[in-house]
Amino acid sequence: MSGYIDAKPDGSVDLMGRSRTATETQGVRGLDPHLVSLVAPASFEAEQYRALRSRLESRPEGRALQVLAVTSAVVGDGKTTTAINLAGSLAQARDARVLLVDADLRRASAGLQLGLEDPRGAGLADAILDPDRSLPGLVQSLPANLGILPAGRLAPQPYEVLKSPRFGAVLEEARRMFDYVVVDTPPLIPVPDCRLIARWVDGLLMVVAAHRTPRKLVEEGLNLMEPSKVIGIVFNGDARAFSGYYGYYHAYGRPPGRGRRPPQPATRETAPREAAPEPPLK
Ligand SMILES: Nc1ncnc2c1ncn2[C@@H]1O[C@H](COP(=O)(O)OP(=O)(O)OP(=O)(O)O)[C@@H](O)[C@H]1O
Ligand SMILES: [Mg+2]
Repeated sequence: MSGYIDAKPDGSVDLMGRSRTATETQGVRGLDPHLVSLVAPASFEAEQYRALRSRLESRPEGRALQVLAVTSAVVGDGKTTTAINLAGSLAQARDARVLLVDADLRRASAGLQLGLEDPRGAGLADAILDPDRSLPGLVQSLPANLGILPAGRLAPQPYEVLKSPRFGAVLEEARRMFDYVVVDTPPLIPVPDCRLIARWVDGLLMVVAAHRTPRKLVEEGLNLMEPSKVIGIVFNGDARAFSGYYGYYHAYGRPPGRGRRPPQPATRETAPREAAPEPPLK
């Protein structure tokens, strides 16, 4: 697994279930509580995204990773959640300008999850289809140096839109304007869009829903990507992070006398989801 961003010896970064976050962020309106980098930046979960950010910032190979895509094998693995949290975490760095691009033109949801007033307003598709639209006029500002380029108008043929060289030009413009660009994408296996997106990014993160994404599909998804572009695998929703070694991490930095968090009972949020047909990725 060398060359991967790996917080654990097996090459994965654990991102936990959200039950505790939901409790911690009660009262925060408008945003989904599992967008921890934005609503609970001091939480343990947000710390995991900072660990991911740190891995990106300190790549031993020194290859620039300025434009990053977040993808997964199939629908619903947590791509958008991960992309938003990663962007939020990158934006916590002093003076960092970070842009989140919703390149899922089929099931755009970043704008919705971020509570934009007009989540289906002009965005990426408009920038591609209308060369007169400038990027600054389409980016919406969020707090803390974070901008979002929503997916934009509903395009009847998303693949054709993303195939346009204009898409590369838009990302190049974003590269000049921002320190980091995080691109949310559709899933790899059902639709070919992410293979187009991969052309223009420096690296791809593959999200795997812990206990849920079948190993066979993860392998299939990885096989669809150019290996040199895959920079890491992110485990989303792995409740194992509540115990043992990770429990220690949780205790670190807490007030004295409030030691390790005891192992957590499985809850609806943290319990393994529906049994997968294939053995889950360990
Ligand atoms: N760690 C988590 N714990 C609990 N729920 C989660 C977690 N991560 C994501 N979810 C929820 O799972 C659902 C799918 O998440 P998300 O939209 O991030 O997935 P996706 O891979 O982007 O989906 P799609 O393929 O449709 O774009 C959302 O309702 C989200 O709130
Ligand atoms: Mg999504």
